[in-house]
Amino acid sequence: MPTRLILRRPDDMHLHLRDGAMLAGILPETARHFARALIMPNLVPPVVTAAQAQSYHARILAALPDGADFTPLMTLYLTETTDPDDVATAHASGLVHAVKLYPAGATTNSQSGVRDFAAVRPVLERMAEIGLPLCLHGEVTHADVDIFDREAVFLETVLDPMRRAIPELRIVLEHVTTKQGVEYVQAADNMGATLTTHHLVINRNHILAGGIRPHYYCLPVAKRETHRLALLAAAVSGDPRFFLGTDSAPHTDDAKESACGCAGCFTATNTMSILAEVFEQQGALDKLEGFTSTHGAAFYGLRQSRAQITLRKGDPIRYPACIETGAGPVTVFDPGFDLHWHVET
Ligand code: DOR
Ligand code: ZN
Repeated sequence: MPTRLILRRPDDMHLHLRDGAMLAGILPETARHFARALIMPNLVPPVVTAAQAQSYHARILAALPDGADFTPLMTLYLTETTDPDDVATAHASGLVHAVKLYPAGATTNSQSGVRDFAAVRPVLERMAEIGLPLCLHGEVTHADVDIFDREAVFLETVLDPMRRAIPELRIVLEHVTTKQGVEYVQAADNMGATLTTHHLVINRNHILAGGIRPHYYCLPVAKRETHRLALLAAAVSGDPRFFLGTDSAPHTDDAKESACGCAGCFTATNTMSILAEVFEQQGALDKLEGFTSTHGAAFYGLRQSRAQITLRKGDPIRYPACIETGAGPVTVFDPGFDLHWHVET
């Protein structure tokens, strides 16, 4: 069994960095190991326009630790009033690599998202023309659809009609949590899908059995074990449609540990060690680099990263249980097993 792995410096194709004191506190956790990350636009107010993305990009660069080797890849938040010309300008600037669609009400800060899909059709058509991918939060939001079924229902009622209407649009189904989602993407030739670290590790029992564990609550919510196993099989399959998007989403502990706790798992700190452990358990360490470092870049048409990181197997690692930020403490995701793969940069 190998005890040392050299990988291209990885890319996180779905990351929440927030702003202000939270951004400053958590950005080093990602910049330490990752070459690039696709930055989600669900700030308050959201990052809707090319100008807003440019300004957010500058704030991220300003918050980077000295000497960091990290490039933020920006996204725009799709609203029903998004201007197709502005999207094209953002794409042409080279800073914006995708547009994110949140169905209104689906998750954190999604109230400005899309209610009427017909209203955004001109933007989607323009994106298809210029080759700009759409990142989808793939859940319906109707109160009458069970929260554990929301992804599967989305595939049939939203994604499929959208793909039929605009077949050239390149789509990433984000943070897939179901077997149906995996199978949908496997059958599509112009799609990608991100898988998070935490959905490869937890199922819904981790959240609810033996007490409610708010730090395992995220959206889409983790499903049954059969679904986790389907995600894991996709991650280690070597299929280039599947790549890492951690969806690392910091919330302060008081916002998580509350009568109405926020959705999000914070995995930036220990993701690479967790994934190495998980891929090793699956006998698939040779598939790790594709998943973390090459498939996502290929989908987004980015050059493969030239820098490398080394993972070395050793004694169990002690990652901090929590990151202290100027906004408050943020608990680091606990995979529930020891981590042995140390990341050397
Ligand atoms: O768990 C989640 N947290 N899912 C999302 O879609 C959004 C994210 C956040 O921004 O906190
Ligand atoms: Zn997210």
